[in-house]
Amino acid sequence: MRLQEGLTLVAIFYLSYTQLVKGHTHQDCQTKCGNVAVEYPFGTSPGCYYAEDPSFNLTCNETEKQPFFGNVPVINISQSGQLRVRLLISKICYHSRGNQAANETYKIYLRNLTLSQHNKFTVVGCNSYAYLNTSGVEKYSTGCIAMCDSAPKTKGSCSGQGCCQTHVPGGSTYVNVKPHSFNGHTAVHQFNPCTYAFLVEDDKFDFHALEDLKNMRNVTRFPVVLDWSIGNQTCKEVVGRNICGGNSTCFDSARGKGYNCKCLEGFEGNPYLPNGCQDINECMTSSKHNCSYPSTCENTK
Ligand SMILES: *[C@@H]1O[C@H](CO)[C@@H](O)[C@H](O)[C@H]1NC(C)=O
Ligand SMILES: *[C@@H]1O[C@H](CO)[C@@H](O)[C@H](O)[C@H]1NC(C)=O
Ligand SMILES: *[C@@H]1O[C@H](CO)[C@@H](O)[C@H](O)[C@H]1NC(C)=O
Ligand SMILES: *[C@@H]1O[C@H](CO)[C@@H](O)[C@H](O)[C@H]1NC(C)=O
Ligand SMILES: *[C@@H]1O[C@H](CO)[C@@H](O)[C@H](O)[C@H]1NC(C)=O
Ligand SMILES: *[C@@H]1O[C@H](CO)[C@@H](O)[C@H](O)[C@H]1NC(C)=O
Ligand SMILES: *[C@@H]1O[C@H](CO)[C@@H](O)[C@H](O)[C@H]1NC(C)=O
Ligand SMILES: *[C@@H]1O[C@H](CO)[C@@H](O)[C@H](O)[C@H]1NC(C)=O
Ligand SMILES: *[C@@H]1O[C@H](CO)[C@@H](O)[C@H](O)[C@H]1NC(C)=O
Ligand SMILES: *[C@@H]1O[C@H](CO)[C@@H](O)[C@H](O)[C@H]1NC(C)=O
Repeated sequence: MRLQEGLTLVAIFYLSYTQLVKGHTHQDCQTKCGNVAVEYPFGTSPGCYYAEDPSFNLTCNETEKQPFFGNVPVINISQSGQLRVRLLISKICYHSRGNQAANETYKIYLRNLTLSQHNKFTVVGCNSYAYLNTSGVEKYSTGCIAMCDSAPKTKGSCSGQGCCQTHVPGGSTYVNVKPHSFNGHTAVHQFNPCTYAFLVEDDKFDFHALEDLKNMRNVTRFPVVLDWSIGNQTCKEVVGRNICGGNSTCFDSARGKGYNCKCLEGFEGNPYLPNGCQDINECMTSSKHNCSYPSTCENTK
């Protein structure tokens, strides 16, 4: 920064404000990466994401045609404050005599994003337990035990035999998933050489006992929901200085800190942009919109 000493705070604020507006309404901002819509406050280049929080800085990998949050692939982003990512699973594997073959322990720091409460901590194995250690709103740890003497025949339900799931509270910014085995999978090695432990969005994991105990169907990542919001203050605390655009409203975030925006009823678009929310009835009377296009008009009452 080459700002000279002596510039007042007001001047600095004005400067960054104009850059912000120019930036995020700039036509050069990439709005799609692969099949994933990337919209403000998220962005893939400087000036395109919400400048005050680098957590909104994504990268688009053109080879993989997918946006990334750090090195975590992003599946989709909702304007109401959720981001879906694919997080790695942790596993610990053993040779038939019980000596360790692999140990992959996954941890992640989510910056200003947090784990949503709509995920489950899951452990798969027959001689297995695992810890989930988190920190954020509070330090929180939990664990799960999965046991079995033979491969269970049940399909679909994760209910303790070979598979254990537990609820996870929202609000964590740091997550560490640690798999363990009681005695190196020796008695169950034939059908289950590993303990798998991971987070997964509610209802996004069906337990296929035979295949999952053998090698988790080769899956290495599962979808996980994160919460995002602007800042750490509530709507009340930022009244008059939130970033919500015209014809939108502020609401307090599900993550317990910060706020999100949504278009007023009858409007659609990006509520985080000054003129993002467009009247969906307007196309009936103006030629700006295509009225036979369902998504903009047919849901009017
Ligand atoms: C945004 O992310 C990219 C890729 O991770 C990084 O190179 C860049 O420094 C980041 N920018 C800021 C301002 O953090
Ligand atoms: C994009 O993904 C490819 C394939 O996984 C990888 O080799 C490359 O380094 C990535 N590029 C960037 C800019 O991260
Ligand atoms: C986002 O991804 C999840 C998981 O793949 C999917 O269930 C959901 O329908 C997607 N939502 C949108 C709006 O695309
Ligand atoms: C697996 O690796 C992690 C991190 O390197 C380590 O903390 C942990 O103790 C290891 N677990 C076992 C059972 O060796
Ligand atoms: C979180 O947001 C604050 C400001 O809103 C920013 O200063 C800080 O760098 C962000 N933290 C991370 C890890 O991105
Ligand atoms: C993780 O949680 C387990 C179980 O509560 C605990 O024994 C362990 O010390 C914790 N590890 C860290 C690094 O907090
Ligand atoms: C898993 O990977 C192994 C080795 O790469 C392969 O032989 C097997 O067919 C794969 N299984 C599935 C279900 O994709
Ligand atoms: C919110 O507060 C936490 C801890 O007080 C801080 O680390 C973080 O940067 C703040 N986030 C934002 C978006 O301001
Ligand atoms: C809000 O919507 C009304 C009605 O369509 C429109 O007249 C007004 O210009 C809009 N305001 C902003 C700031 O977009
Ligand atoms: C309006 O949208 C429909 C459906 O997408 C398309 O078939 C039609 O050509 C469009 N009309 C105009 C005038 O763009």
